[in-house]
Amino acid sequence: MTTSVLPAAIEQISVRVALAVREGLCSLPKRLPSWLFYDEAGSRLFDKITELPEYYLTRTERGILAVHSAAMIDRAAGGERLRIAELGAGSADKTRLLLKAAVERQGAMIYEPVDVSPSALEVARQRIEQEIPEVQVAPQFADYTHGLEMEPVNAGERRLVLYIGSSIGNFEPQEAQRLLQGVRAGLKTGDGFLLGVDLVKDEETLLAAYDDAAGVTAAFNRNILVRLNRELGADFDADTFAHRAIWNAAHSRMEMHLMSRRAQWVRIPALDAEFAFAAGETIHTENSYKYRPGQAEEMLASSGFTLVANWTDEQGWFVVCLGRVE
Ligand code: AVJ
Repeated sequence: MTTSVLPAAIEQISVRVALAVREGLCSLPKRLPSWLFYDEAGSRLFDKITELPEYYLTRTERGILAVHSAAMIDRAAGGERLRIAELGAGSADKTRLLLKAAVERQGAMIYEPVDVSPSALEVARQRIEQEIPEVQVAPQFADYTHGLEMEPVNAGERRLVLYIGSSIGNFEPQEAQRLLQGVRAGLKTGDGFLLGVDLVKDEETLLAAYDDAAGVTAAFNRNILVRLNRELGADFDADTFAHRAIWNAAHSRMEMHLMSRRAQWVRIPALDAEFAFAAGETIHTENSYKYRPGQAEEMLASSGFTLVANWTDEQGWFVVCLGRVE
């Protein structure tokens, strides 16, 4: 018989969250999927991460877009009008650079953010429509990891799909490839795909970016446990888990883990289960793959895109590639 009682505050348990947590914590080594980071608090912490001195990714990609957005839009448009879609609704100021470049070229345009979060879509809609009145936002509520189904564009119009911020890095290379193929399948001849990818660099720089001095990334990592306490009634003591960032050279990826500082049991009433942690035992919470120069371009090509151009920063830390459907 079940004796566990859920806290009254838990009104609706997300089956998606419960299943993912059960599967991850029953695995050995234990793991949790990185999409669990992005509840409200986690999204705010990620925004703070993007402003950290150690987190070079956002500022480096923004620098590339600031210099080359007009060229990117020009190459993607190829003389026609553009409609811009974006996988994920949340890359804020970087998206704005591309939208502004497109508006300068063609005047009014349609922007289609694609996301599974209605609140993220609504925030994007309000922000963009307020800041760039020429842009009409058409939010698309969809999970783009299962392919892309978009309404046909008008005659004389091409769609440019943005996937920036190196979000592709969270996927295993095979899954990443499948994701790109799914996007490709939803596009027509002439359409474009703009992909932002973080590159392999010296280990010290990588480690600092995922273990900053102010401890924001550590808080971001631990917030996953706080979320499980709130949403599943779990009794994680987040302070007993240490943040660990590791460079896994063999797999070319940064990894984040949470390490139990002591032996302990954690109860999760929504799963009607308890989980044992040994002292030093870890939960693997994220992979962030780093590609070598040319690999992102290869992946685009083997997903059915023709490489049109690529742009990088002076240090060669990050690359933005444009592929086209021929
Ligand atoms: C949003 C997946 C690009 O992997 O760098 C930031 C998430 N994790 N700090 C990344 C993240 C730790 C980020 N991405």
